[in-house]
Amino acid sequence: MKSVHSLRSRLFLWYIGSLVLLSLFFFLLVHILAIPYGTDYFFMLLLFLASIGFIIIYRITNSITNLTSQIKRISGRNLEQRIQSIHSQDEIGELANAFNSLLDRLKQAFDREQQFIADVAHEMKTPLATLRTTFEVALSKERTKDEYKKAIEAAIVEADQLSSTLKDVLDLAWSESPTEQKPMTQLNLTELMEELGDIAQKLATKKHITVKTNLVKNSVINGYKEKLAQAVMNVIENAIKYTPSNGKVSITLEKLHAKAIITITDTGNGIAQEDIPHIFDRFYRGAKTDKVFGSGLGLAISKSIITLHQGYIAIESTPKRGSTFTITLPEV
Ligand SMILES: Nc1ncnc2c1ncn2[C@@H]1O[C@H](COP(=O)(O)OP(=O)(O)O)[C@@H](O)[C@H]1O
Ligand SMILES: [Mg+2]
Repeated sequence: MKSVHSLRSRLFLWYIGSLVLLSLFFFLLVHILAIPYGTDYFFMLLLFLASIGFIIIYRITNSITNLTSQIKRISGRNLEQRIQSIHSQDEIGELANAFNSLLDRLKQAFDREQQFIADVAHEMKTPLATLRTTFEVALSKERTKDEYKKAIEAAIVEADQLSSTLKDVLDLAWSESPTEQKPMTQLNLTELMEELGDIAQKLATKKHITVKTNLVKNSVINGYKEKLAQAVMNVIENAIKYTPSNGKVSITLEKLHAKAIITITDTGNGIAQEDIPHIFDRFYRGAKTDKVFGSGLGLAISKSIITLHQGYIAIESTPKRGSTFTITLPEV
């Protein structure tokens, strides 16, 4: 803030200046020189200084009123409007600028929210339509018991997919709304990773995938245990899901420079170079994943939770050879 333009210094100068001038005037003209009409001049000076004060205060309150009326005009419907015509470089100008940048941030959040709702609606529409068609086809004519059974089974699969997408949507909403969150607690990441390693083992046996874990002892971090478990599990699930039978998945936990580093490496199909920049986007699914069950929200959720923990997630992948996801989290 430039001190010359600041309202505080202007008011202060006016106040002290007036006091000094008035005292000097009073002593010099009325007491020492004792000129005629000294008291009249004194009152004229008083009036003059008071007018300056009045003008300064009038201009300040005027721009505050102007600012207030502009702020009142902004609502959820016209968030793109900005405070204009406040050019002063004083505190009120600063307030207007701060308000404008608050509006920028709000607008971005608002747009993201709207985009999210649009994406969710779009993603839910197709499985719902398929579900409906399944029932319509089943009802279109008389069918055997077996055919009805098949139709109902297909409907259950669709419904499962819908509810798992919806669960993902809720999880993502949780990690992006800090007001809902309780304080973080200290947790033993090594123990958490051991549990996740066991779950990974179980998931992998069906596909004859070997899971190897190598975990450093006593890694302690601050966080939300369940959410972190979910963030890491989403990555582990992908590693198993996108690795063909008889492949390998390795899970490691290391410590480096007060950071806990989790890596999840698989010998799967890898991710195409053009997919990598989008892999953490909501609802983004790789080109070859049509047949694999999923919502495309897993990695978006992981990233959002990891960011909430002041960590980051990175990926390295070679098509046909496999991928490595690295999650870095600050230790206590
Ligand atoms: N380990 C992996 N190997 C190959 N592709 C992966 C791997 N992890 C993620 N992907 C790709 O990233 C996409 C996004 O992953 P994700 O957000 O978990 O969604 P989903 O698993 O529901 O498709 C996947 O569709 C897949 O194409
Ligand atoms: Mg996934």
